[in-house]
Amino acid sequence: MSIQPHGGVLVDCEADSVTKQSILDKLPTLPQLQLTPRQVSDFEMIAVGAFSPLTGFMTKADYECVVKDKHLASGLPWTIPITLAVSRQTAENLKEGSDVALYQDKHFLGVLHLTEKYDYDKRREAAEVYRTTDEAHPGVQALYNQQDVLLAGDITLVNHPIDEQFKAYRLTPRQTRAAFTERGWRRIVAFQTRNPVHRAHEYIQKCAMEIVDGLLLHPIVGETKSDDIPAEVRMKCYQVLLEKYYPPERTLLSVLPASMRYAGPREAIFHAIIRKNYGCTHFIVGRDHAGVGNYYGTYDAHYIFDEFDASKLGITPLFFEHTFFCRSCQSMASSKTCPHSSESHVILSGTKVREMLRRGEIPPVEFTRPEVAQVLIDALR
Ligand code: ADX
Repeated sequence: MSIQPHGGVLVDCEADSVTKQSILDKLPTLPQLQLTPRQVSDFEMIAVGAFSPLTGFMTKADYECVVKDKHLASGLPWTIPITLAVSRQTAENLKEGSDVALYQDKHFLGVLHLTEKYDYDKRREAAEVYRTTDEAHPGVQALYNQQDVLLAGDITLVNHPIDEQFKAYRLTPRQTRAAFTERGWRRIVAFQTRNPVHRAHEYIQKCAMEIVDGLLLHPIVGETKSDDIPAEVRMKCYQVLLEKYYPPERTLLSVLPASMRYAGPREAIFHAIIRKNYGCTHFIVGRDHAGVGNYYGTYDAHYIFDEFDASKLGITPLFFEHTFFCRSCQSMASSKTCPHSSESHVILSGTKVREMLRRGEIPPVEFTRPEVAQVLIDALR
């Protein structure tokens, strides 16, 4: 039997054909709302059940509990607010109890069944969720750039967002669950990433693969910060790597169309819950998971799991320390397995690697597979 989704039911907000028709019939009379790319990805995540048990954008009661207590009002763990911010003027023109037509540019996505409008305190959300009010933090910056009023209510999806890029890899939670069953996988580890897979990533994935049936390589392809490697380049890296170094019968590559928040520890919990909804039983949390700059301690994303009732979380985290290649061990290692000093360790900063790639130099094979480096060099040129 596959793992239960968060809250017990895999949410499905997609309209059946009768509902679709009735929405399309009244569409010309509905007020319209343009969604930002982040809002489009949240809409899709809710609709396909990736954010189960959420069936819409958060009410004030849920929002307050999540910000303050890291749980929904129902008592289920949940760490990131999922909200729909609009300008005060837009909010004034929308009535509680009515439907609002949601758009991705000119593409009609579905409706919001508006139940509530409320004000919120961005600085407080930043301090609680991101542990900083510094606007240099990319998640905080995105929050401060949001509009001032939040709309709450369930959603109905009529059309999926347009995505020509990753269509073939855009599996919904129902589809990944079906894929796992078809392959006979019962224990599945998910790997979240916003970077090309380097040797450290590969090592922790393969350590995990030793104790489960399969790996879901699940890169985030929604909004990331501007200096992260673009998703289409990363996808090429994953493809060349999987082709050559991973057993196809034990690996599934699929994209997660969510946006990155860079909320470190809180996002680690969020990422784990999402992967549970996709049918995974285990979730990898390495060093500074979903971190940025120096806002979080290297292992804060491990410690936060202690704050939760493991049975309510329902997915097993697999924690990894900082890993690297050790020239004395002649293998990948971490401080847990390697007795040698840092002089033996191949550790390169992201900045240094980017400089090498820009010059067309392949970084040491102990740091990255040459096939992956080549994709990055071609992209940077
Ligand atoms: S993240 O924002 O998605 O966390 P990244 O794609 O770099 O960034 O990391 C993916 C996963 O690999 C995260 O769980 C992260 O903690 C882990 N990770 C990245 N680099 C290392 C490393 N050198 N050692 C151990 N874990 C790592």
